[in-house]
Amino acid sequence: MSDDISSGLSATTRTAVIAGVGGYVPPRVVTNDELARRLDTSDAWIRTRTGIAQRHVIDPGTTTGDLAVEAGLRALKNSGADGADLVVLATTTPDRPCPATAPAVATRIGLPHVAAFDVAAVCSGFLYALQTGAAAIGAGFAERVLVIGAETFSTLLDPADRTTAAIFGDGAGAVVLRAGERDEPGAVRDIHLGSDGGMADLITVPGGGAEQRSRGGFPGPEDLYFRMEGKSVFFAAVRRMAESSLTVLDRTGWQVADVDRIVAHQANTRIIHAVAEQLGLPPERAVLNIERVGNTSAASIPLALAGGMADGALKAGDRVLLTAFGGGATWGAATLTWPDLPRA
Ligand code: COA
Repeated sequence: MSDDISSGLSATTRTAVIAGVGGYVPPRVVTNDELARRLDTSDAWIRTRTGIAQRHVIDPGTTTGDLAVEAGLRALKNSGADGADLVVLATTTPDRPCPATAPAVATRIGLPHVAAFDVAAVCSGFLYALQTGAAAIGAGFAERVLVIGAETFSTLLDPADRTTAAIFGDGAGAVVLRAGERDEPGAVRDIHLGSDGGMADLITVPGGGAEQRSRGGFPGPEDLYFRMEGKSVFFAAVRRMAESSLTVLDRTGWQVADVDRIVAHQANTRIIHAVAEQLGLPPERAVLNIERVGNTSAASIPLALAGGMADGALKAGDRVLLTAFGGGATWGAATLTWPDLPRA
């Protein structure tokens, strides 16, 4: 039995097609210099080790749901449609442990009675949600799906941890999927997903869940902070994103050289360039927005897609490879052709 799954969207002619894209970041910008005023770090260290110059951070009272609503509305507007019959929200930072954030987001967007649920796969969350939405369309369960990735990682960070503070930012991105044909521009061609629960401790919020509560414990502030073993994550991310990319390219029947653009999870510019190098892709084919927004976890890929659409890095007809790695561990890759959409 393999430890991963691959979708054979080619098995049906009914295929999910990207019909709209939107992104939103909260207005407050935190520069590296601002971080360096309260932590033992520097702009030079963060830029050279991660490629990040700044990140956006919510103001007190703003939630993941707020960012998701903004991104979702922008994606719907970009698609020219005003509705969807399924909302899938990928997030690691839901507004509450229970219920899911997606139903409230759907209601606020003006879709009060549609199916709506959250998907939790940390930084791979958007690809997991994309697969869920694409499969719903492929199976005839939905005609139009709003897939959102939204995060407020700033609510999880240990204020004394310079490593995670340097990397993560808040934001949201979304795509609208509609039913279409595999050969048309915008078609989500194939998706590959995988996981390895043996790596669960590499990226974790150790407390606050059933594991702690079942032992009679209640979380203290320390238990609720995000923890990450950066170096191990770095190497696993490069390996798994490269492997997953090759798997999905093979399924689609594309050579590496056929890929016009790679949109990888914006974890670290060095990770993205290492993945491109392992694949044999020129680094300039990578779409990057990490310098401006940092690592926004499940929002990272759709936010990069929105940025690439806005600045012209993604053009209609481009063959695009998406790939991500995240806590779990989870990983994945997807192939699609870029649609002809109005620039947001
Ligand atoms: N400023 C200054 N120094 C820092 C720092 C910061 N913000 N963060 C870490 N350091 C220090 C470390 O403490 C270490 O010091 P030491 O040698 O005295 O122990 C030194 O820099 C080197 O640390 P190391 O972990 O080897 O650096 P690195 O080159 O691997 O970069 C990461 C660290 C976290 C940037 C990198 O490992 C990474 O990006 N990992 C993946 C993270 C990620 O994407 N996670 C999300 C899920 S995909």
